[in-house]
Order: sequence, then C-alpha cells, then structure tokens
Amino acid sequence: MTTSSRKLDHIRICLEKPVDAKNCPFQDLVLLHKALPEIDEADIDTSSVFLGRKLKAPLMISAMTGGHPAVKQINVRLGEAASELGIALGVGSQRAAIEDRKLEDTFSAVRDVAPDIPIIGNIGAVQLKRSGPEILERLAEMIDADAIAVHLNFLQESIQPEGDKEASGVLDAIGSAARGKVPIIIKETGAGIPWEAARDLANAGVKMVDVSGQGGLSWAGVEAYRAAMVGDDELEEMGRLFWSWGIPTPVSIIECKAQGLDVISSGGVRSGLDVAKSLSLGASFAGTALPMLKPATKDTKAVVKAMNPYIRALRISMFLTGCTNVRQLARVPLVVLGRTRVWLDARGFDLRKFSVYRELAK
Ligand SMILES: Cc1cc2nc3c(=O)[nH]c(=O)nc-3n(C[C@H](O)[C@H](O)[C@H](O)COP(=O)(O)O)c2cc1C
Repeated sequence: MTTSSRKLDHIRICLEKPVDAKNCPFQDLVLLHKALPEIDEADIDTSSVFLGRKLKAPLMISAMTGGHPAVKQINVRLGEAASELGIALGVGSQRAAIEDRKLEDTFSAVRDVAPDIPIIGNIGAVQLKRSGPEILERLAEMIDADAIAVHLNFLQESIQPEGDKEASGVLDAIGSAARGKVPIIIKETGAGIPWEAARDLANAGVKMVDVSGQGGLSWAGVEAYRAAMVGDDELEEMGRLFWSWGIPTPVSIIECKAQGLDVISSGGVRSGLDVAKSLSLGASFAGTALPMLKPATKDTKAVVKAMNPYIRALRISMFLTGCTNVRQLARVPLVVLGRTRVWLDARGFDLRKFSVYRELAK
C-alpha cells in the first residue's frame, strides 16, 4: 500500500468512526474563578507571536493532510480558514510528495491561500533519519514553511501492518536537524512526550515541542479499525489494547516545560477553555486537529465556524481569571484534580506549583 492511499484510509476512518480517547484529561484542571477580575473585557488581547508572526490567538490547526489529490481541497479550506482567523496551520506528513513530486501541490496550495500565517511542514522522524537533514530544506521550500514538525509516531507504527519500527538513531538525526537552518518542532502524534525524552531532545538542541499527548485522537484506535477492515484480528486486538497508551496532554506539557522547552499543547484540546488551561500549565500555544477535519470536508466557512468558539472561550476564560493578555494565563491559579493529580504525584512533580497554592505562595 502506498503512503498516499494509506493517508486516505486514515481520513475516512477519522470521519466515520469514533477515534477520540475515552478519557478527557483537561477535565481534571480547574482555572480558579476570579470573582473580582478588575479588568475590562474590552481590554482583553488574545494575540500571540508564533515563529515571528503575530496571530490573533495562540492557536493552530494541527497537522492532518495533503499527499493525495482527493485531499488537496481539505488543505485549501484549512488554509483559508486559518488565514481568515489569524491562526497558524500545520500540514500533514509531506512524505508522499517526496515519493511522488506530482503530489507537491496538495501541500503548496496551502501557502497560496494563506500567505501571512505561520505554516508548519511535517515529516516522520524515521524518514528524517533515512533522508538526512538536507530533506528539511526541500520540505520547507515546498510550502514556504516557517518551521518543520518532525513527528514521532511509534505507537501508530506498532499497530500498522506496514509499520516502520526502526527507531534507533532517531535522536542523532534530530540533533543534526536541530543544528540546521530550518527551525524544527518535535511533535508527537497522540501519545505525549515525557520529561526523559524532553531532556534528551533539549540536550540535542531542540527548542520547541508539540506534545500531542494522550486524550484526543488515538492512532492505535484508527489502526485498530484499519486492521479490522483487512481482517487482521490480532492487530485489531493490539489497537484496542493500546487505545489509551501514552502520557496525558496536561502531564506532558508540565514535563516538557520543566525541561526548558517551548511547548505547544495538543492532543484532546477541544475548546478555548482547554487552550487557556494549557497556557496556564506553561504551554505557549495550542493546536487541535480532529475536530477540524469534518468541517474541512464541507467548506471554509464550516472550519471558521468550528474554530471561532475556541477564540471566544479563550477570551471568556481570560476575563474570568483577570488576564488582559495570554502570557498572564501562566500565573493563573489552577487546581489539579483526579487522575492528572495522581499522574503528577507519581511522576514526582510538586503539585503546589500547579494548584491554588501557586497564588498563595507568592
Ligand atoms: C486525519 C489525521 C491525519 C493526521 N496526520 C498527521 C501527520 O501526517 N503528521 C502529524 O504529525 N500528525 C498527524 N496527525 C495528528 C495530529 O496532528 C494531532 O497531533 C493529533 O490528532 C492529536 O490532536 P487532536 O486530538 O486534536 O486530533 C493527524 C491527525 C488526523 C486526525
């Protein structure tokens, strides 16, 4: 099966089947209500600078597609919507266009309709290892990218019949890439990044990660459906067993931030309230993918309509916590409950930093 047709399978499954996580880790976080915000709502400014460009909100539509003629229109709509909204956009893995140049315009069409926003290219870490760091310049040129996300997807590869599991040497390849001209973002794809890997990445010269943690789209889930389609019972069972594998997004944000990395929060970000919670945990930006897929199969307006409430809810969260700019969210008192609290405790994090005590301790 080619990279290109596999991508179509993924989109079809994401549109037709329930592929989201069975838990919602952001529900464990409560931003403390400020009964006396002492700011005027009209003074709230949600703008943010990302990769040197000013945006209307610290938000991106995360990497999804490109690489098949049938999905070019999806990318164009995502690009038009992101441009209208003043937010960033990631494209899906550009591997298919490396294998077949004719597919390049399914990616480059995005830049044509969104000349002013940050656009992030995408390639798998194993592909980077095989091709060498030079490939990044070609990928960046293809879409005039502001950065390239190098994705880690070993959970997905483990459940794929054609999975690529040659993970040795990936860190070295990332280190070489980090020393190159093209800015890179190391991005997971739904299983999160723990502090141990964040430390190794930081030591290798990486500055920014997109945690894409557990709590949103499950690639094990998607691959379970794909295995079922071809009658591979054992792989289907593996997909179901590993459905919820990974580090929940809020935990991963804290772990990566603790290693001094710039953090993009993604994986189960389902509202502007989740964006505000992410920023309160130390992320500087947030992304969402799956919820934008169905609207993008309709038209550009549908994507704008799906994304606008994120910005509205971010604004309301800022008002109710007394923040006039997004950076102030990092100082908002946050109460951590439930499974996230247990996770952080088990991983040795000082919960007082992430609770109402953060405010009281000042
Ligand atoms: C249809 C689809 C295709 C995706 N393809 C890619 C990809 O090519 N590269 C990548 O880094 N992530 C890819 N992702 C993962 C997303 O960028 C994101 O990390 C993940 O879906 C978690 O975010 P969510 O819970 O908001 O969907 C894809 C997601 C979807 C839904």
